Amino acid sequence: MMPGGASTPLAQLLASFGREVIETDPAMLDSVAVDHHLRHRGKPLALALPRDTAEVSRLLALCNTLRIGVVPQGGNTGYCAAATPDASGTQLVLSLRRMNAIRRVDRDDGAMIVEAGCILAEVQKAASEVGRFFPLSLGAEGSCQIGGNLSTNAGGLNVLRYGMTRDLVLGLEVVLADGRVWSNLSPLRKDNTGYDLRHLFLGAEGTLGVITAASLKLFPAQRGSATALVAVPTPAAAVQLLARLRERLGDLVNSFELIPQVAMQLLAKHLPSARQPLAATAPWYVLCEATSADASDPLADKLGAEIEAAIEAGLVDDAVLAQNERERLELWQLRENVPEAQRREGASLKHDVSLPIGRLAEFIDIASRWLGEHVPEAVLVCYGHVGDGNLHFNLSAQPGDTSLASRGAEIRRVIHDLVAERGGSFSAEHGIGQTKVDELARYAPAVELEIMHGIKHLLDPNGIMNPGKVLRAGRTP
Ligand code: FAD
Ligand code: MLT
Ligand code: ZN
Repeated sequence: MMPGGASTPLAQLLASFGREVIETDPAMLDSVAVDHHLRHRGKPLALALPRDTAEVSRLLALCNTLRIGVVPQGGNTGYCAAATPDASGTQLVLSLRRMNAIRRVDRDDGAMIVEAGCILAEVQKAASEVGRFFPLSLGAEGSCQIGGNLSTNAGGLNVLRYGMTRDLVLGLEVVLADGRVWSNLSPLRKDNTGYDLRHLFLGAEGTLGVITAASLKLFPAQRGSATALVAVPTPAAAVQLLARLRERLGDLVNSFELIPQVAMQLLAKHLPSARQPLAATAPWYVLCEATSADASDPLADKLGAEIEAAIEAGLVDDAVLAQNERERLELWQLRENVPEAQRREGASLKHDVSLPIGRLAEFIDIASRWLGEHVPEAVLVCYGHVGDGNLHFNLSAQPGDTSLASRGAEIRRVIHDLVAERGGSFSAEHGIGQTKVDELARYAPAVELEIMHGIKHLLDPNGIMNPGKVLRAGRTP
């Protein structure tokens, strides 16, 4: 039978939906065939661009009948190649980029209903236009979609105070693998009517269904802020500073991010417009921020006083407080551009780990020493959301060195074992995708894997939803 002939899956998709919805242009397919890091290249059968939930429903029903694998793709900014099709040429990439309406923003309910194809920055903007705050914030917010954020249960820069994406969700609309629609876009904060199905789809990376819309929690607009870049001698000092700030400022502290000196050097090398505000260098820095809904709250005084006290206690060497919004944004630019600076440096090996906060410093110490002894050619770029116990324990290859990739599996095993021994997680916020399927199979308890496979089988018995992602194919672990 000829490819594209009358009875092929592609022909049936085209016959049912037409070229308005099923895109086959090679340049378009190429643009969705590769992951963010350009490490995994697939071959899409076609790209589906549905216009509404009913169309997503009809599409999945047909794909289920024809056993066509469906790979949802949002902004394609994810780190685990979770939105990339395989190389078989049989998987349909599904993008909700046309479904990007803000359906409703309710200031009084403190809720908004958005379609999954909305860019995260647009969601934040719609909330702020009615004097409300949607706290999810990450470096990719100008291009990632809320559907992708929900499906990866993204973390980001404000988790310390507001939680992960799943903590910001009141309800969902989901199309199941067989085309059925489950819709519960409720603004209710309390609803104990049986199992809470939301949480199955949040963080499922498109393996259980397609999220088409969500009801999101809004918060009071934050009208006052104080932001500081603080030089600290060690990660242990950073952790102690965090404890002091939390003790004294409570929930006013919304971000606490660790940046190492080497990241500052990469920023200066690759993004020289990013201004480095502290004159002297330090081994480590913390970017911390406190915000308040009350514009008259003297946050700068409060944060400044705590930092002064921390200097006296020997926890902080130096600090700068942003004096205005421009300076605040400049500080955030430093933190948000660390991944980009590391990308420009060349090959890297990333570990997105979390640990109990009390064991972070010990982990950094032990893992750095192991690297120094066994992988001296690599440069450690360890940064991240220390306030959440989440480190991006990344390695960069020295310019011209190609050995890092070949030792990746061995290094990853040691780092992840060190994390597991301390009760941590090998995937704090970036998910599993296709790059960490073996890690999940190794580190998750058998009973957990059995439950996950059972849920997958219940919701997607034909295995059409994002095949090969999160779980190994087949029913048993
Ligand atoms: P994609 O990458 O397109 O897809 C991710 C997964 O979601 C895939 O499995 C896909 O199949 C699935 N999916 C997408 N849309 C849907 C849908 N509608 N229904 C069902 N499944 C769907 N992540 C963090 O957690 N914290 C950070 O601080 C952070 N910072 C980043 C900074 C930069 C500069 C970059 C490039 C990335 C960063 N990320 C971060 C990773 C990434 O941005 C997040 O994982 C983000 O949530 C992915 O959204 P996306 O729309 O790009 O999803
Ligand atoms: C971040 O926190 O900047 C990202 O999650 C990690 C990264 O982009 O490498
Ligand atoms: Zn992160």
